[in-house]
Amino acid sequence: MKNNKRREGFSSGLAAFFATLGSAVGLGNIWKFPYVVGENGGAAFLLVYFACIILVGLPVMVSEFYIGRKTRKNIMGAVKELTTKKRWRSIGIIGILAAYFIMFFYTGVAGWVYSYVFKILRGDFNGATAQSVQQQFTNTTAGPVAPIVWQIIVLTVVSVILIGGVKKGIERITKTLMPVLFILIIVCDIRALTLPGVKESFSFLFKPDFSHLTSQGILIAMGLAFFKLSLGMGTMVTYGSYFTEEDNMFGTAAKVAISDTIVSLLVGIAVFSAVFSFNMEASSGPGLLFMTIPLVFSKIPFGKFLLIAFFVLASIAATTATISMFEVLIAYYTEQKGASRKKAVILNAIVIAFIGAFSTLSVGETSLLSGVTIFGKGIFDIFDFLSSNILLPVGGLLMALLVGYIAPKEDIKRELSNNGKLKIANIIDFYYFVLRYISPILLVIVFLSSVGVLEKIIKLITG
Ligand code: TRP
Repeated sequence: MKNNKRREGFSSGLAAFFATLGSAVGLGNIWKFPYVVGENGGAAFLLVYFACIILVGLPVMVSEFYIGRKTRKNIMGAVKELTTKKRWRSIGIIGILAAYFIMFFYTGVAGWVYSYVFKILRGDFNGATAQSVQQQFTNTTAGPVAPIVWQIIVLTVVSVILIGGVKKGIERITKTLMPVLFILIIVCDIRALTLPGVKESFSFLFKPDFSHLTSQGILIAMGLAFFKLSLGMGTMVTYGSYFTEEDNMFGTAAKVAISDTIVSLLVGIAVFSAVFSFNMEASSGPGLLFMTIPLVFSKIPFGKFLLIAFFVLASIAATTATISMFEVLIAYYTEQKGASRKKAVILNAIVIAFIGAFSTLSVGETSLLSGVTIFGKGIFDIFDFLSSNILLPVGGLLMALLVGYIAPKEDIKRELSNNGKLKIANIIDFYYFVLRYISPILLVIVFLSSVGVLEKIIKLITG
């Protein structure tokens, strides 16, 4: 059964673009990007983030597409096909582990977002003030029952779409929803431009002050770049394996990275305009989105309607991104283990709901598991930290090395130029150089400093 079934794929380049963009654009842009930029001081951090996207993110993304489209397999199958050396299988193991870790907490945050749509409809945010929105967020995460139920709802929605398959599920949903999302964000920004804090918001985001930048911040920028572009886990390998032979992989990667960054900045402008208009803290952490957006839309005509639209949009983004993480697992279990699609989806959803509940119940001071810590971090934070700052960058580094040093250069040229049809030899040469000599070195530096080794070496040298 498992090998003779014809493999599904995306029907066109446009479909591939929307699916990939649907993976990249998610809670990363709407929830994580604003608070991480806020905690790390704004514009200077952003510049480092852009550098990470260009020098590491894009080359790794193209490499993932290459691995996927060349082998037409899931992350583990793809690596096994590219090299017989067993140690490279760690790429597959890291990817699968990262998919679980991220889904444990990501589906929980998606649940808060879904629940906001319901709460706004119910009128909980009528006449919102800076204090009341903070209280609302605390109540949302406190639980113990509601956040778990919402997390299960998210997993159910994602599962139903995934059981539909690649074309009828992933492709159809992303192609319709991504354009809607873009329009809604623009509407949000138009409103934000009328807020008094808009000027300050622009200078926070675009006027760099390097005294705010820390070495820890550089590392976080790299982790954010990986998280944002869905790299290091095999999502882009899996989606690449569904691309058509005509797809321009460079073009798709560049368009996705640019569009994704624009979405993040547009959301950032709205969030920080609210922060500076209502005297909130830019560094308020994971609750930032939930405490600012309701204020952006309070006290204006159609405010409630726009607020609902925003959280519907955020739910859409979270859903299409979750789908792309889950697909890594589904492709693995169906192709490597011979499971049916339906069985793979349902069993994994149950496991993720179960362990994810522990993560979700650890957020906020009043929640059930708030006191439980591992290595000094709460359960939610440990899954986030291990995946974004360790598993994804290490997975990305190994994939960069696999493509840069193990795969034959002639083959890479052939694959990326679609057998010579695309006249992009110069771009390919430049990419190959960056992939071999720049991305891995940057990643190693950032990684060593993340585990504190670099500081120790510098201390040893300098005495
Ligand atoms: N990029 C998505 C976001 O920004 C999250 C995501 C989807 C992801 N698939 C991934 C992150 C794979 C890392 C790896 O919300």
